[in-house]
Amino acid sequence: MAMKLLTLLLFSVLVSLSSATFRTKVGVNYGTLGNNLPKPSKSVELIKSIKAGRVKLYSPDPEILKALKGTDLQVSIMVPNQLISNISTNQTLANEWVHTNFIAYYPETLIRYILVGNEVLSYMSEADKKTWLDLVPAMRKIQFALKTYGIRKVKVGTTLAMDALESSFPPSNGTFRSDIVLPVMKPLLEFLKKTKSFYFVDCYPYFAWSQSYKTVSLDYALFKGGVNYTDPVSGLTYTNLLDQMLDSVHFAMKRLGYPDVRIWIAETGWPNGGDIDEIGANVYNAATYNRNLVKRLNATPPIGTPAMPGAVLPTFIFALYNENQKPGPGTERHWGLFYPNGSNVYPIDLTGETPISSYPPLPPPKNNKPYEGKIWCVVARGANMTQLGSAMAYACGQGNGTCAAIQPGGKCYKPNLLILHASYAFSSYWAHFRSQGATCYFNGLAVQTTKDPSYGSCKYPSVTLT
Ligand SMILES: *[C@@H]1O[C@H](CO)[C@@H](O)[C@H](O)[C@H]1NC(C)=O
Ligand SMILES: *[C@@H]1O[C@H](CO)[C@@H](O)[C@H](O)[C@H]1NC(C)=O
Ligand SMILES: *[C@@H]1O[C@H](CO)[C@@H](O)[C@H](O)[C@H]1NC(C)=O
Ligand SMILES: *[C@@H]1O[C@H](CO)[C@@H](O)[C@H](O)[C@H]1NC(C)=O
Ligand SMILES: *[C@@H]1O[C@H](CO)[C@@H](O)[C@H](O)[C@H]1NC(C)=O
Ligand SMILES: *[C@@H]1O[C@H](CO)[C@@H](O)[C@H](O)[C@H]1NC(C)=O
Ligand SMILES: *[C@@H]1O[C@H](CO)[C@@H](O)[C@H](O)[C@H]1NC(C)=O
Repeated sequence: MAMKLLTLLLFSVLVSLSSATFRTKVGVNYGTLGNNLPKPSKSVELIKSIKAGRVKLYSPDPEILKALKGTDLQVSIMVPNQLISNISTNQTLANEWVHTNFIAYYPETLIRYILVGNEVLSYMSEADKKTWLDLVPAMRKIQFALKTYGIRKVKVGTTLAMDALESSFPPSNGTFRSDIVLPVMKPLLEFLKKTKSFYFVDCYPYFAWSQSYKTVSLDYALFKGGVNYTDPVSGLTYTNLLDQMLDSVHFAMKRLGYPDVRIWIAETGWPNGGDIDEIGANVYNAATYNRNLVKRLNATPPIGTPAMPGAVLPTFIFALYNENQKPGPGTERHWGLFYPNGSNVYPIDLTGETPISSYPPLPPPKNNKPYEGKIWCVVARGANMTQLGSAMAYACGQGNGTCAAIQPGGKCYKPNLLILHASYAFSSYWAHFRSQGATCYFNGLAVQTTKDPSYGSCKYPSVTLT
């Protein structure tokens, strides 16, 4: 009896010890491109409420770094892209940066990772290409600055998008782009290997699937099983799209002679909403992707991927909030685990310990098939009338007679109301230029609709999806 009690006690002590020291390697990206987001202190509470082990910041924001003091969250901070070139040639500047943005908070704020730049190799102008060559020299200077201050535990890296690869399919064919492979990737991988750092990759099965939904199964992208893909060259069998994408990075590194550099998923996730012309962006899919993801990532022993069996894959989910000031298509503003009012979009526990079946039911997905029909782009409810004029001028200024119908004498000139003219201009602009990447957003002034705004002999141009 006593023996049994002792065992029981010992057992519970062990359990509580392990839960106290357990820290999941899953974290969250704390993006701040919103004008309605909670304060850093509230944000830190939310981050803790989903049991994240880590948090990644896109800048060394002093208020956020202060709010993280005394928590056990491991923190990743970022050197902004604009500073890379100057830092690459100036050790004093690198030291100052580390002093101001790291030393000032450390170790009360557990900064563990410094990412030099964000997706630098995805920017393609001539000026940007100069920055490509400055990337690794800047990383070396930051690393050296840390050494100067006697800091050894901190890893230096940089985040890269999947477009660093020119081929990612089949995964065994993974190859870095020829314009960066020798000038940037080789020295970068050498640096990461020497410093035992990671290849930080932004990896979004959502984009790969939504661009190829006719050939790629949604279940495969959402870790739902039932579909496998075998790489004909490596013979490896894949059960989900994320593994396939990560392995293409692994094979690209291997091709260059760096098979052992560890991969860190710097961003992944699934949008919980988007525009009418976007497919598969809904709460059901977002919750399914992220919950299945964290269950896999937290498995013991670690699962890894087919080409990296057993590998631990530390990960930052994108993102903490839906961010209303991100430009581009609607999905861009819907990656959050939380709404700006602090309510969760769906419950999630980043340790993966909560059984998925125990969560309340999700709203059924309504846009897992593409929308078919006409869509117009009109003035959003509550749009700021003062801003409409210049947005309309922009829409009309792109040429090709976009706004002829709202000139005096045109079929849509009367009634001469700003809101009607602006809706016409937005619809016409979007219908003309959507194929070239134009979006229906105008900083929140415009929104897609399936309701035809045409009247009388005034016909609004539309986008027709088939
Ligand atoms: C980089 O350095 C130059 C010369 O010192 C300076 O004019 C410029 O403002 C710096 N750029 C940034 C982004 O700090
Ligand atoms: C290097 O950076 C330091 C600190 O910002 C600055 O004072 C110095 O002028 C810079 N050196 C050069 C050569 O730009
Ligand atoms: C493999 O990658 C190369 C480019 O690196 C590409 O040209 C080729 O089409 C790819 N092979 C397959 C089967 O996709
Ligand atoms: C896919 O592969 C997994 C793991 O190898 C296996 O358990 C599963 O039965 C396979 N599913 C299908 C549909 O072939
Ligand atoms: C928070 O915002 C979301 C989305 O706008 C809304 O559905 C939800 O009801 C709000 N929650 C609270 C507590 O206001
Ligand atoms: C509307 O936009 C103007 C110009 O940008 C700005 O000054 C004004 O504060 C805005 N009004 C509201 C209600 O947001
Ligand atoms: C403008 O219209 C002409 C004729 O329809 C077309 O050839 C051209 O590609 C259009 N330009 C743009 C930028 O859409």
